[in-house]
Amino acid sequence: MGAPWNKDHLLGLEELDRDQLLTLLEDASSLLPIARNESPARTDLAGQIIATLFFENSTRTRMSFTLAARKLGADILDLNASTSSTAKGETLLDTALNIEAMGVDAMVMRCAASGGPQLVADHVQVPIINAGDGRHEHPTQGLLDALTLQQHFGRTTLEDLTIAIVGDIASSRVARSNAFGLTTLGADVILAGPESLVPAELETLVHGRDASSGTLRVEHDLDAVLDTVDAIMMLRVQFERHGGEGIGADYTTRYGLTVDRASRLRPDVPVLHPGPVNRGIEIDPEVVDGDRSLILDQVTCGVAARMAVLRGLLSK
Ligand code: NCD
Repeated sequence: MGAPWNKDHLLGLEELDRDQLLTLLEDASSLLPIARNESPARTDLAGQIIATLFFENSTRTRMSFTLAARKLGADILDLNASTSSTAKGETLLDTALNIEAMGVDAMVMRCAASGGPQLVADHVQVPIINAGDGRHEHPTQGLLDALTLQQHFGRTTLEDLTIAIVGDIASSRVARSNAFGLTTLGADVILAGPESLVPAELETLVHGRDASSGTLRVEHDLDAVLDTVDAIMMLRVQFERHGGEGIGADYTTRYGLTVDRASRLRPDVPVLHPGPVNRGIEIDPEVVDGDRSLILDQVTCGVAARMAVLRGLLSK
């Protein structure tokens, strides 16, 4: 059987229309009390085993999927990528096929190769959940960000809201998933950062998707749009993907959410960041810990969003 949003896997938010997104988000919202430990865990997925295959580092996403699975009564089986046979040269697909053959019910996968989860999904029978593939998509991050914004603004769709995503967009699967998810929910998205990290062709990413979708545009002068945004999402500079090339010495001055720049946002504008945070580079520590910050709300929403995804794909 397929998920309530009519998919066998969750590979990206690009594939989900507004109704499918809203179905998932509604379920996630109903699970928030469990994520917050205000309601007891459930048993929807009792007896099922979910394997996590993380070939790239993770703190939040991996722990969050583990908690989400456990709060639904499922067991988690972790592949330790650094000591597994992929370190001996086994391909991602061979590893996945072997883990499927052991009888797991689903696989949550993070890898450096864009399209890795799609490749595996094309060859296995169990649901594949993309936990971040290279620079392509990170759909559960996009979902949790949308849930965080829904909760903050007290509404389900995001029409008439302008949301800036700032920083290392070119390397960011989070930015891509949010570009799809947030515009599908009606928000207008601004991708802001230096030309080296925010290529103009990104503007074509969401073209022709849906008449009800919001717009997407690229902006290199962050200060010029500061007073137009309703929410701002800062992204980590992904030094491990480009070694810092294209990041000028003036990066923080021009694009960092410093205390001074944050003070020029409207007082009610919330700040998001997917983590991990480079404090003092893309965002000042005082802003991370300040009143505007939804960063820890995002983390809580992440557990609920992942519970909704697991339940949608796995409940029989
Ligand atoms: C993001 C990722 O891995 O893509 N982190 C996360 O999942 N919370 C963003 C990042 O690494 O900067």
